[in-house]
Amino acid sequence: MNIVYLNNKFLPADQACVPVLDRGFIFGDGVYEVIPVYGGKLFRLDEHLQRLQNSLTAVRIPNPLSNAEWGIMLNELITQNNGDEQSLYLQVTRGSAQRDHAMPDNPVPTVFAMSNPLSPVSLEIREHGVAAITLDDIRWQRCHIKAISLLPNILLRQEALDQDAAEAILLRDDFATEGAASNLFIVSNDVLITPPTGPFLLPGITRDLILELAEANNIAHCEKNISRNELRGADEIWLTSSTKEILPVTRLDNAPIADGQPGPLFQRMLALYQNYKQKLRNQ
Ligand code: PDD
Repeated sequence: MNIVYLNNKFLPADQACVPVLDRGFIFGDGVYEVIPVYGGKLFRLDEHLQRLQNSLTAVRIPNPLSNAEWGIMLNELITQNNGDEQSLYLQVTRGSAQRDHAMPDNPVPTVFAMSNPLSPVSLEIREHGVAAITLDDIRWQRCHIKAISLLPNILLRQEALDQDAAEAILLRDDFATEGAASNLFIVSNDVLITPPTGPFLLPGITRDLILELAEANNIAHCEKNISRNELRGADEIWLTSSTKEILPVTRLDNAPIADGQPGPLFQRMLALYQNYKQKLRNQ
């Protein structure tokens, strides 16, 4: 039985109900996080809670729980769903109010969290990579906020799937920002490059860890804008996220990237990443 958390209670998913006037339902007025769990341990919890706070502050929703309370609740959710490897989803909405664009004066946020299976990326994908397509970034100018209103991302991802690709890589003014639900890295002349943070992309927790691992292991890296041409001419392209970790992109817009196989730096970073996860499991 899938046990979820809703406003101070743990209960079976099919018994968890939210009022229809919840602004999350009416307006998509809320923010969220996705946190992987390895060996029963929350991955980079402090970083996820800091990003949650940043999102809440940006949309002016008071944080309903302290960091200690978030930690206790999420750990209880892990226990209730007894699995060593899980993906926790949490969202905070502005709560219920008469439908009005103006924010209510004293919002009582709705807090919801659930556990989903964390399916490891298949060996087939690790060995051969995935296809991606480029699409215009049709999203807004606050992409650093992890908002639950994801209609543009949904349309972009579906467009990729309809074209037999795993992800859409988004271009704004001819520069690549990120994927529909992932961050972007390229390798060019042995340098690992990712676009700088700012309003046009989500500051991914996985992205930050990869930069940390690059720094700690003397892998040349930098944060700089990636043009369409640099993307097409890259030696390697990776997409990163909490649920997919690191995905090598071996075809872009139906043309191979380099020799069409995952590259050597991907293999190296994947090993460093798996090693980091293993240390967390053993803690
Ligand atoms: N999405 N960019 C976007 C637009 C994303 O939606 C995500 C993750 C990322 C990667 O962030 P992180 O490394 O912190 O997961 C980048 C999650 C997994 C989702 O919406 O399910």
